[in-house]
Amino acid sequence: MTTDYLTVEDLSRVFPGSRGQAPLVVFEHIHFGIGQGEFVCIVGHSGCGKSTILNVLAGLDKPSSGVVVMDGREVSGPSLDRGVVFQGHALLPWLSVTKNIEFAVKSRWPDWAAAKVHKHCRQFIDLVGLTGSEHKKPFELSGGMKQRVGIARAFSIQPKMLLLDEPFGALDALTRGVIQDELLKICAATGQTVFMITHDVDEALLLSDKIILMTNGPRARIAEIVVNTLPHSRTRHDIHKDPQYYRIRNHLVDFLVTRSRELSHIAATDIEQRYPPEVRPGEEIDETISMRQQAARPPVLYAI
Ligand SMILES: Nc1ncnc2c1ncn2[C@@H]1O[C@H](COP(=O)(O)OP(=O)(O)O)[C@@H](O)[C@H]1O
Ligand SMILES: [Mg+2]
Repeated sequence: MTTDYLTVEDLSRVFPGSRGQAPLVVFEHIHFGIGQGEFVCIVGHSGCGKSTILNVLAGLDKPSSGVVVMDGREVSGPSLDRGVVFQGHALLPWLSVTKNIEFAVKSRWPDWAAAKVHKHCRQFIDLVGLTGSEHKKPFELSGGMKQRVGIARAFSIQPKMLLLDEPFGALDALTRGVIQDELLKICAATGQTVFMITHDVDEALLLSDKIILMTNGPRARIAEIVVNTLPHSRTRHDIHKDPQYYRIRNHLVDFLVTRSRELSHIAATDIEQRYPPEVRPGEEIDETISMRQQAARPPVLYAI
């Protein structure tokens, strides 16, 4: 019995090879769950299949095998229950900032009067700092501004699940900080469930409850799930004062620099490797480094 709101069971994705090449097994044996109100980040090197997993969760791509179940129903196509912020901005180029957001809000609440839709959208335009640019079309916006429209649009439909593909990557540090703080506030206030791809370990540590670590592709899989044991009250200003921050951060960086590559050579053949262990770096003796030195063995750490 699981209490997870979203469950991913034995997912794989194979793309057919082009021009006589062998098919590409992007990832396989992907298992994880997300509890209601949980914020989960996924971290891994470029090409390991993070965006593909997100597209499957969004219902925009079909897995080659496995299932995704959300709130008791199998995900089989796109739904307004899930709000997506794409890596590329995916705005409608002929519509203004406001109209891009209103389009989504009207689809979500078709019965709403125009004034109500407009007022609702204004809140989210303000939130992402685009007040004054409401009437601009996407071609008049910088990359960071387009990304902010995508964020406002996803937030505005108040989805059951937010799916974010490196949403802050194109933003300058100041704006990123402001929007990260807003996202934390929204999540705290609404119990929003979030799945987010990021390459920024500090962002993952600030925002998430759990961090999924993927091995390098092809045939990528989840190596482990790191539990963020930092207090919920953490803020960007005090997070680095906690000694535990460095323990988890070092664990994540070590994974990205070394272990993600080493583990990619080990096939997911047995059950332990299919169901990734949850690890709590720093809470017990961190065996990761010594295990890595021992041999190329799977990191079955503090499995629960
Ligand atoms: N539609 C597609 N057809 C063929 N190959 C694809 C397609 N989409 C993604 N890929 C390949 O799948 C792999 C994973 O891609 P992606 O999910 O975008 O990785 P990530 O987001 O982790 O960088 C890459 O090698 C990419 O080239
Ligand atoms: Mg990607």
